[in-house]
Amino acid sequence: MNDPHALPAVAPLFNGGQPSYETGALRLALGLASDKPFNLGALLSDRLCVQGHGDRLALVWENHSGLRKDFTFDDLRRYSDVWAATLADLGIVAGDRVCLFLDRVPDLYFAFLGILKLGAVAQPLFSQFMADALEVRLADADTRAVITTARHVEKVRSARVRLPGLSWVILTDVKPGAAPVLGKGETAINAETAPPRAFTPLAANDDTPSLLHYTSGTTGRPKGAQHVHGSVLSQFATTRHVLDLRPEDVYWCTADPGWVTGTSYGIIGPWAVGATQAVFEAGFSAPRWYEFIARHRVTVFYTAPTAIRMLMKAPPPAAEQLVSLRHMCSVGEPLNPAAVLWAERVMGRPFYDTYWQTETGAIMIANVPGLPIKPGSMGKPVPGIEAAILDAQTHQPVTKPGAPGLLAFRPPWPSMFRGYFKAEQTYQSKFVGAYYLTGDRGSVDSDGYYWFVGRDDDVINTAGHLVGPFEVESALLRHPAVAESAAVSKPDPTFGEVVKSFIVLRPGYAGSDELRLDIMNFVRKHLSPLAMPHAIDFVDKLPKTRSGKILRRMLRAQEWGEPVGDLSSLDD
Ligand code: WTA
Repeated sequence: MNDPHALPAVAPLFNGGQPSYETGALRLALGLASDKPFNLGALLSDRLCVQGHGDRLALVWENHSGLRKDFTFDDLRRYSDVWAATLADLGIVAGDRVCLFLDRVPDLYFAFLGILKLGAVAQPLFSQFMADALEVRLADADTRAVITTARHVEKVRSARVRLPGLSWVILTDVKPGAAPVLGKGETAINAETAPPRAFTPLAANDDTPSLLHYTSGTTGRPKGAQHVHGSVLSQFATTRHVLDLRPEDVYWCTADPGWVTGTSYGIIGPWAVGATQAVFEAGFSAPRWYEFIARHRVTVFYTAPTAIRMLMKAPPPAAEQLVSLRHMCSVGEPLNPAAVLWAERVMGRPFYDTYWQTETGAIMIANVPGLPIKPGSMGKPVPGIEAAILDAQTHQPVTKPGAPGLLAFRPPWPSMFRGYFKAEQTYQSKFVGAYYLTGDRGSVDSDGYYWFVGRDDDVINTAGHLVGPFEVESALLRHPAVAESAAVSKPDPTFGEVVKSFIVLRPGYAGSDELRLDIMNFVRKHLSPLAMPHAIDFVDKLPKTRSGKILRRMLRAQEWGEPVGDLSSLDD
């Protein structure tokens, strides 16, 4: 009998000296036979119930006003079945994209699992996105249904006018008995009060689409990275080996499932392991975060450098508040050495940096327990992953320790994205020779530790969230005063980077502080608070190549006090 409480024997993830995922051992640990279908939604909820552990705590949820709800794995099973069956009643079928446009409410988790059980594709979007950001992503994915709450439904309604493929808007927070004000093509589902429904999950396999995560690039619109049910093998392996998570742990991942960390390690990895997740549906507050860790006796904590820098600025925790913590990891942006050392001193242990991307689906490079940390380094490739630093011109691995180059990985690995939705060419452009190019620059030292150097494109990483300059520039152009604009990153002591815009005004407009504020607010209200420029310079003209392409790189270099470099090659 497979005991889900027991950690599977540590699998030999190196195969005869050749790094490769030893997927056989991982399958065994998850009770999956390689030739038999499975379903990721069922694996994360029903599996433990079948094994007699349905009463184990899966989710401890608390919101900003202190309301607390606990859910077992059996609750996950029941409520996700209700979601799957009700979505099927609405005509949603396998392969349809269903958007989760929700704060971190319990239904986000139930519906996510239900969508997977049905074989539909979950499309989580950050609930702070405004109508424009939402519409672009729903249009690109040709989304069939959006699940949301009263708080966000107006944004969906205004985007929907131009989305003929959107059949249903589903509200989760209509109280039973209340007369909901539902428009045409709108309905309400309340999984916790609905009668139980039996549902047979779709028999999926490793390559069945599971999730579409939108991420930003330098050019064009955001792209939907297509993930699959089989990604769980990578997420399970790294949750065990990097996050060091065990079934008896109480784990807190501060990332929102609108971003990949919040699904790979805020849903899939931890529930594949069978651990209890604590979810705090509230904004940042250092004292409340420390109280949350203490109250729920959190043992493993996964967060991001911006949050750590915000903790560093706040009064320290009381010694007894953090006694439960055993391991802490960080992801999403460069983790400065000062943050690692501060944590060691004030929180009693260092943060272990981890590196990965929406496209990789799972952690690729990490500091892991047992490996001495070099503060400022991302650590080493995880077992099964072969990383390289490539020369920018030849795309051959650079051999000189410490020499910067393009950070690349040798495919495949189970959680790697299988495409950008309807953007095959962009997907193909990410592969050169034997490697997948991350779009980041890095170096590797003589001990095999990897160091982050910077991005190799114009994407802005603000507080760990990627913002595409093109999307910001497009939003700016919709403001009546803006003739031309460029968006670049500007260093920020807390958020790592923030958006800065250079704007050429239309005739008749004069630059002023008032106009600056108006433009900032315009982006915040239409696109997203993350994309809002924190600084605006009004300029007479933008630097361009002879063919008229804006030289963002030059503006960025100026902001970072870096040499502008040779721009002749950019002249196209
Ligand atoms: C950056 C988030 C430095 C990097 C999981 C990457 C990092 C992008 C680190 C992916 C790190 C992620 N140190 N930079 N440890 N981790 N990044 O797709 O530029 O939202 O390409 O996935 O964040 O962001 P994404």
